[in-house]
Amino acid sequence: MSRKFFVGGNWKMNGTKKVADDLLANLIKGPLDPNVDVLIGVPSLYLDYVKEKVPSNILVSAQNCYKVEKGAFTGEVSPAMLKDIGIDWVILGHSERRQIFQESDELIADKVKHALESGLSVVACIGETLEEREAGRTECVVAKQIAAIKEKICNWDNVVVAYEPVWAIGTGKTASPQQAQEVHKVLRKWLADEVSEAVSQSTRIIYGGSVTGANSKEIAKESDIDGFLVGGASLKPEFVDIVNAKK
Ligand code: 13P
Repeated sequence: MSRKFFVGGNWKMNGTKKVADDLLANLIKGPLDPNVDVLIGVPSLYLDYVKEKVPSNILVSAQNCYKVEKGAFTGEVSPAMLKDIGIDWVILGHSERRQIFQESDELIADKVKHALESGLSVVACIGETLEEREAGRTECVVAKQIAAIKEKICNWDNVVVAYEPVWAIGTGKTASPQQAQEVHKVLRKWLADEVSEAVSQSTRIIYGGSVTGANSKEIAKESDIDGFLVGGASLKPEFVDIVNAKK
C-alpha cells in the first residue's frame, strides 16, 4: 500500500503575526509537491490568525490540547475549542511536553483518545532519550510509548506516528537514515503484531530530529519513513525543500 508522504512543521513557541505572514508567504510561493500532506503546528494564540490566511492545501495544527472538553483547567485548550475555530489537527506527546511539562504516557494516551473522539486528527510523538539509546533500550521505550496509546484507542485512521529521538531534536545530530529506518521498521512491525497488518500498512510513521533541506532527501528514501516532523527548519525557507524531498 502506498502511504501519502506527510511533512509537518512544528513552529513550537516561536513567531509573531509578522513571522507567521512570512512563513505563509514562503509556503504559498512554494511550489509544494501536491503529493504531500503539509501541516504546520502553530502556537495556540495564532491558530485562528493563521487559519484565516492559509491556503486550503496546508493543514493547520495545534501543538497540544487537554484531555477533556471543558472545565476548570486554567491555561488549557480543548479539542472542542480547536474544532470551533476550524482546526482539525493536533500534535500530542512531543518530547518537550513529556520532559519539560512532565506529561506521562498515560496522560498523552488520554489526550490522544479524547482528541480523536472529538474529531481531531493526531500527530502522536514518541522517541527515546540519548541515555535510553545508549542503554540499548530504544525499541522497548518506543514500544511502551505507542502501547500506552494503543490501550486507549481503537481506530488508527486519523493518527500519524512521529518518531522523534530526543537526542536528535534541536541538536543538529540527525539520526542516520539507517538508524531512523531501523526504528520505523520496528514500529511498523509492532503495529502489525499488536494492532493489525492493515493498520501497519496504512499508518504514516514520520521522522523528526534535526531534519534539514540538506539531509531530508536521503532520509526520505527509506521504505518505512513516510515523512517528517520538522522543528527549526520549519521556520526557514528550506522547509519547502523538505516538503519536496521525494521529488
Ligand atoms: P528540530 O527539527 O529543531 O530538531 O525539532 C524537531 C522537532 O521537535 C519537531 O517536532
